[in-house]
Amino acid sequence: MRMRKRNNLEPRMEACSAIWIKEPQTMKGKWLSLMPEARAIRLEVGCGKGKFTVETAQAEPDVLLIAVERVKEAMLLGMERALEMGLKNVFFLDLDAANLEEYFEENEIDLIYLNFCDPWPRKKNAKRRLTFRSFLEKYKKVLKPMGEIHFKTDNSGLFEWSLEEFAHCKLEIRNLTRDLHANGPVGIMTGYEEKFYQLGTPINRCELINVEVQDA
Ligand SMILES: C[S@@+](CC[C@H](N)C(=O)[O-])C[C@H]1O[C@@H](n2cnc3c(N)ncnc32)[C@H](O)[C@@H]1O
Repeated sequence: MRMRKRNNLEPRMEACSAIWIKEPQTMKGKWLSLMPEARAIRLEVGCGKGKFTVETAQAEPDVLLIAVERVKEAMLLGMERALEMGLKNVFFLDLDAANLEEYFEENEIDLIYLNFCDPWPRKKNAKRRLTFRSFLEKYKKVLKPMGEIHFKTDNSGLFEWSLEEFAHCKLEIRNLTRDLHANGPVGIMTGYEEKFYQLGTPINRCELINVEVQDA
């Protein structure tokens, strides 16, 4: 996501320090301590400006939501919104999803949201796609057995390619649709999704189940 640089980025980030986890490595295996009563821990990878994040957290106050985004300028807007809304069940991390295992213990996460990740259309950049097999293996590690990944994208090429990656990584595919909103809006829309929906672009979605037991 390309974002305008903000001169006042750092003070605005600091103002969000209640929900900005600056040293996520210290939380590895302890995320539930942020909200011991939570019935589940969910992770959103590449949350962008956090529209889906804050609306999901508001809709499900008994779930702990952790949003990861590597562009601070985008993540800041999500954090500010979460504070304005008075949300207590959402936290943000500015990090690269490639390093997830440094911050999350094996079997720590119930569900991962992967919404409208960058398609990286050139073949030579396939490894950067957040549905590339090396990313999927990291997600599988931090997910509980039978944990889920919920994936949405407007990009049909990326979707079809990703289905092959999911199969390669033995993730069980469920509830697949190539036109999620065919009969009217379904679920909470992300910022990107709202734009594509207004343009009439069909949204692809599927759920993946972590059926494979990890080696000890
Ligand atoms: C196309 S935007 C979608 C944003 C949001 N999910 C939505 O649907 O509106 C993709 C986001 O993923 C973030 N992203 C891409 N690769 C990432 C990575 N390796 N780690 C963390 N965030 C990443 C980008 O910075 C960008 O904000």
